[in-house]
Amino acid sequence: MPLIKTKKELKLQLSLAKKKGSLGLVPTMGALHQGHVSLVKRAYSENTTTVVTIFVNPTQFDNQEDLDKYPNTLKADMELLQGISNEIIVFAPIASEIYGVHISSKTYDFGRLGKVMEGAFRDGHFEGVGTIVEKLLTLVGPDRAYFGEKDFQQLQIIKKLVALRNIPVEIIGCPIVREPSGLAMSSRNERLAPLLRKEAAFIYRTLRSAKKKFGMKSAKTVTEWVKDQFEKHTDLKLEYFTITDVEKLRPVQRKRRNTKYRAFIAVYAKDVRLIDNIALN
Ligand code: PAJ
Repeated sequence: MPLIKTKKELKLQLSLAKKKGSLGLVPTMGALHQGHVSLVKRAYSENTTTVVTIFVNPTQFDNQEDLDKYPNTLKADMELLQGISNEIIVFAPIASEIYGVHISSKTYDFGRLGKVMEGAFRDGHFEGVGTIVEKLLTLVGPDRAYFGEKDFQQLQIIKKLVALRNIPVEIIGCPIVREPSGLAMSSRNERLAPLLRKEAAFIYRTLRSAKKKFGMKSAKTVTEWVKDQFEKHTDLKLEYFTITDVEKLRPVQRKRRNTKYRAFIAVYAKDVRLIDNIALN
């Protein structure tokens, strides 16, 4: 299975691949798990050629320690991808190959999409995501690119990015893959001690209960209830819980019949920051 490290080599491989048919792209930061695998399988089933990128993008980290601790498991990642197909093209560049000598983000106007939730709590995060995703889309030129609903706000930001920059690609959102306990799969879960990992299942259990309550109660009441649940928990600290519409991510004031809603949560499990979300209707 080809592992490509340079843009030059990637372009060569892609010029051959593009003659054969459609191209699917799955951008990742590595430390692959079944959530990533679901995206790659979907891309592989829908395209003639699939490119997976593995690049821990420095510009989207607002916290140096988080970046330093980000796992690098390229060998295991390659084996996992090989298990799907040995035709997958893997692009794993070093930072200078992508950014040159100056590692910095571009600025984007994502409007309120970029300012709420992750945008409010992680300074510069979406500018970094926008920068790398625009670079990868331009470099690879895929017909379709696949992103997980695990990072639902990121998915909406990328749809907006593609519209803002007129990039001819279809952005496809894929459902959240969970551990048997219900905890959303994440590369960060590996940093949780076994007991804490078990406790972290409380996040999804609370989201499910919130969903049930939202059928009868107001967003405000449900939000208060969620806050109360976390107050009782010593190892899990709630950063935010918000119910918004799915398109513009506006907090719900009054429920409307024809609007789809989603609940979003960010929690610190000791020093590990976890996010999750759930469709409410
Ligand atoms: P990363 O966290 O590696 O995730 C890569 C892709 O996998 C994202 O689209 C993410 O939403 C998806 N994903 C992660 N966990 C998932 C799960 N449990 N179920 C379904 N999909 C899941 O997201 C990033 O990397 C970066 O921000 C990136 C887009 C690569 C830009 O650097």
